[in-house]
Formats: sequence, C-alpha cells, structure tokens
Amino acid sequence: MQTRELLRSHSSVRKYSGEQIPKETIIDLIETAQMAASSHFVQAYSVIWVTDEEKKAKLGELSKNDFQFKTAGASFLFCVDFKRLQVAGQKHGVDIVTDSAENLLVGVADVSLFAQNFVVAAEAMGYGICYIGGARNNPAEISELFNLPEHVFPLFALTIGTPTKRNETKPRLPVAAVLHENSYDVDQYETLLADYDAMMESYYASRSSNQKMANWTKQMADFLVDQKRPFMKDFLATKGFTFK
Ligand SMILES: Cc1cc2nc3c(=O)[nH]c(=O)nc-3n(C[C@H](O)[C@H](O)[C@H](O)COP(=O)(O)O)c2cc1C
Repeated sequence: MQTRELLRSHSSVRKYSGEQIPKETIIDLIETAQMAASSHFVQAYSVIWVTDEEKKAKLGELSKNDFQFKTAGASFLFCVDFKRLQVAGQKHGVDIVTDSAENLLVGVADVSLFAQNFVVAAEAMGYGICYIGGARNNPAEISELFNLPEHVFPLFALTIGTPTKRNETKPRLPVAAVLHENSYDVDQYETLLADYDAMMESYYASRSSNQKMANWTKQMADFLVDQKRPFMKDFLATKGFTFK
C-alpha cells in the first residue's frame, strides 16, 4: 500500500486475534520507530514491552482498558525518559537540568513521534493498533509496576495485534478548520463546526457498530467541561518535573 493511502486508512483497533507478535518483528518496529526525528537528538523515550501476563492484566486494569490487552498480540508502555540523559551528563561530571516545562514538552514530542513511527510501521505490516492514554489514569501505580525511576513517566500505552474487526475511518475536521494561511482565522469556526457536526452526526448514526446520536462539538464540550486527571501535576512533580 502507498504511504499516503496507508495513513488515510487508519482507524483504531480494539479487538485482536490474540496471536502473539514475534520478537524479531517487535525489534524491527522499535528500530523503525527510533528513526523518527528527535528534538536536539535527545531521544527522550523508553518503551516497556509487557510480556508478563500478570503485569499486562494489571496494566489493562489500571488503564481502564482491560479488554484490549486481553486479545492484543503485544502491549507497550511508552514513557518520557530523561533518566538516560542524566546518566549521559554524569559521564561528563554534569548534573543536567531535567526539571523544566521546556524539557517536558521536548519529551512529549519525542515520545509521540517515536510512537507514531512505530504505529505507521505496524499498520504497514497489516497490524492494528490503539493508543491508550488511559495509562495516565493511574500513573503512580503504573510507574511502580514497571519500576520507572525518577525522570521517567508513562505518557500512554499501546496495544497492537491482528485485527478481528476493523472500524470505518472516522471523518476528521475539514481542512479549512485546521489550515490557516498566514494568519489565524477564528471567525470561520461557527460555520465550519456546524458543517462538521452534521457530518459527524451522520457518521455516528450510520457506522457499523456502536451507533449513537452524537456530534463533535457536544462531545468536546462534555469531555472538557471539567479538569481531567487533576492529580497529574503532583504526579509529575514526584518524577522530577515541576514546570520550572
Ligand atoms: C494519545 C492517545 C490516547 C488515546 N487513548 C485511548 C484510550 O485510552 N482508549 C481508547 O479506546 N482509545 C484511545 N485513543 C484512540 C482515540 O480514541 C482515537 O484515535 C480517536 O477517537 C480517533 O479514532 P481513530 O483512531 O479510529 O481514527 C487514544 C488516542 C491517542 C492519540
């Protein structure tokens, strides 16, 4: 499949055959993911491959997405990692600055690009994937489960496997809503979002499973009406990130 076609056919998969993915394939996917661009080449990521059945079940439970882990062919925890960079600094007698809002952004960007390379490579092999931000529902417990040291924290988990069911692609916002030429244009949103809501209403009403009456703006309003994971700031502080 052409790369463009592959990217345009993405949809998250949450039900897999259970067939385990061979180690050579995992290594290949990780090597491919590592070729993602990295801010100042810090490579501020680590990934835990969860092969221990008990730990996998616990990760599923703590992430509140246990059903996906049960049938996945492999399960991972993607982490922002400044620990290795600290060791690199120590090698040269330097105590590096890890604790800054900038480093947090650098780490999140690095992990996301690394993970998305992994995802695209996996989808090119015919696998399905699902990101699991639910891993941030219990970040302290998950950190303990996988012995994550200070300066390392979980950003999201990921399941991958042979799909037993593929969802239709979900319509994205119109290009005009996300592409601004030379200057940010806020005035267009009223019309564009009304059109998008109509499109999403018909998508949700007619898709092959989990049909519902819903639109995008209402979903976003309901989702963002209150603060999500208010414990996150304190959790990050325990990992050495206090947004200095
Ligand atoms: C960082 C991130 C976290 C996500 N967390 C979850 C999750 O915890 N559970 C889940 O079922 N899907 C999760 N998703 C999948 C999104 O719901 C999905 O990508 C979105 O609805 C668009 O659908 P599509 O991927 O099928 O196109 C996550 C996606 C991303 C990028």
